[in-house]
Amino acid sequence: MRWPAGALRSPRFRQLYVALVLSSFGDWLGLLAITALTATLVEGLSAQSFAIAGVLAVRVLPAAVLGPFAGALADRLDRRRTMVLTDVLRGLFFGSIPFVAAVAEPRPALAYLLVASLVVEALSLFWIPAKEASVPNLLPRRDLESANQLSLVATYATAPVAALVFAGLGLLSGVLPVAVAELALYVNAATFLFAAFQVSRLDVRPAGAPAAPADDGTPQPTVLASIREGLRFARSSELVRGLLVGMLGTLAAAGAVVALGRPFAESVLRGGDSAYGLLFAAVFVGIATGVGLGPRLLGDLSRRRAFGLSIVAAGSFLVLLSVVPNLAFAAVAVVLVGASAGIAYVVGLTLVGGEVDDEVRGRTFALVTSLMRLTLLLTLAVAPAVAGAIGLRTVPLGGVELQVNGISVVLLLGGLLTVGVGVASYRQMDDRPGVPLRTDLYALLHRRRRPPVFPGLFVAVEGGEGAGKSTQVALLRDWLEAAGHEVVVTREPGATPTGARLRELLLDPRSDLSPRAEALLYAADRAQHVDRVVIPALARGAVVLTDRYVDSSLAYQGAGRALDVAEVADLSRWATQGVRPDLVLLLDVDPAVGLRRARDVGAPDRIEGEALAFHERVREGFLGLAAAAPERYLVVDAATAPDEVAAQARARLLPLLPAARAAVPA
Ligand code: TYD
Repeated sequence: MRWPAGALRSPRFRQLYVALVLSSFGDWLGLLAITALTATLVEGLSAQSFAIAGVLAVRVLPAAVLGPFAGALADRLDRRRTMVLTDVLRGLFFGSIPFVAAVAEPRPALAYLLVASLVVEALSLFWIPAKEASVPNLLPRRDLESANQLSLVATYATAPVAALVFAGLGLLSGVLPVAVAELALYVNAATFLFAAFQVSRLDVRPAGAPAAPADDGTPQPTVLASIREGLRFARSSELVRGLLVGMLGTLAAAGAVVALGRPFAESVLRGGDSAYGLLFAAVFVGIATGVGLGPRLLGDLSRRRAFGLSIVAAGSFLVLLSVVPNLAFAAVAVVLVGASAGIAYVVGLTLVGGEVDDEVRGRTFALVTSLMRLTLLLTLAVAPAVAGAIGLRTVPLGGVELQVNGISVVLLLGGLLTVGVGVASYRQMDDRPGVPLRTDLYALLHRRRRPPVFPGLFVAVEGGEGAGKSTQVALLRDWLEAAGHEVVVTREPGATPTGARLRELLLDPRSDLSPRAEALLYAADRAQHVDRVVIPALARGAVVLTDRYVDSSLAYQGAGRALDVAEVADLSRWATQGVRPDLVLLLDVDPAVGLRRARDVGAPDRIEGEALAFHERVREGFLGLAAAAPERYLVVDAATAPDEVAAQARARLLPLLPAARAAVPA
């Protein structure tokens, strides 16, 4: 994990990011301005609230209807052109609203405002998936999480800024002959046009993609077909299903806070608009904190586990909120709900971005966004209705009269529901079955210093016996050297003089080693290897290819010898000073096949001589590690032709290579 600024090192991402910040800022400013303008177009409190409710509904509705279409279309259109065109159109529509309001009668002006809002919202539905799907093409994978954090920061941190600007324009409009809402809409139009300009200069194609889409004559699938495919994909993938359930649940929790905030502040906390304002601000502070700091706090915790856990946390804090009739306490609870939801959101998006293929990523994001908006709409409508139906009543409970407030009841039920959703998605997505959660949490709490970051690239090749690691190491070395990289090829055990002596001890069939002694000797070899070979090379900026590393200990000593995997991991973390590979290439081989291959080469060493069952546990151990952190692994079936394996490895390595020497032949 890197500091969120990581992604900003990429100039192309920076350019897109400026556009994103401007568009989000424009969106918030537009929302404030449009609600304010609406209020001036109708008279009477209830008519005003209806009109404002209409504007808000119009902003949420298109997603429900158009969302999946927009996503599917966005996958088929040129992403840059989509973004530029939608930004220009949104700018023009926003700019036309105050103009029409100035020249038309109130009723047609209101009608135009509603239609324009609808169109703007529909356009955003094309912009968002195009942008989300472009980001992974602009950045190496390891910066994706930071990019998602930055995107979310841009989305939410611009809200209070827009509110301030709106207030500031209020002061200005005292001097100028325009109303504040109108001025804000013109400013808003300008931000969209500038964002369009910014994106128009950006290259958002995937790394290594041809300059023009190759027209190979095969018919493109229809829009409907690709939506169906997107949904089928979502249904078939446990990960995506778990993500959807989780994100929607969390959103409902946060939505409940927003929907019930005003009446909650008044009837439960006995405060007014300022109490509501405080809660509203607290949600944003919470979300921003969660998005900004969450991934750092999570450290090495499995992202799939972290996702479920943060949802459980959001639900629990909501329950807390429902039972505490005190403003200060409620504000803290709301910050915590927001922070947990923010963590769930950024982790969820990162999982989608990192594990969903480029061709369907737009669709998946669109599916997620449109279902999210639908959920929000439902929550905004249902939560107050249920709370109102319950109202204020006294319930006799064992001789005591209990005062029940519908709002607290809805918050309580919503919280419990969210906890349930969190538990469900944790179960669905858990990638470390068998490893108790407390082991992970303990590791999280006792985390050592952050691992150092080096200019070089560290790649480990792992796998069972006879998986063909050395062939792959050699192929990768040739490729990297041809591209002008300094490559250091090394291995464990035995890459250093001291390591060579340890290796003899470790592999000699006459050595009688207890499992723990064996684990310590491998760790000793590794400590020497990292300190004398790996770190100096990475510090020079070299690409280090190691044949076996920490994962071998986790698989052979952990899974194979049945030592506690977390303990072996701690041992290795200490031995390696926290230096982790940027990528692990795991060659997965059926041990029966691999051992036969290895034994053809020579007499079995002490480890090769182990029973088949041992090697099967080792294989499962490796696969489990890869499933727990897919962003750091490339798993390839070792039965694949070596050239094909190498091609997959190259494709995966290309975006990770040190940028200064990116001129690598594909
Ligand atoms: P080696 O001859 O390098 O085997 P291979 O060619 O299969 O890589 O021997 C290394 C052996 O040591 C191999 O059987 C795996 C085992 N090993 C562990 O058990 N734990 C470890 O941490 C490492 C690095 C290797």
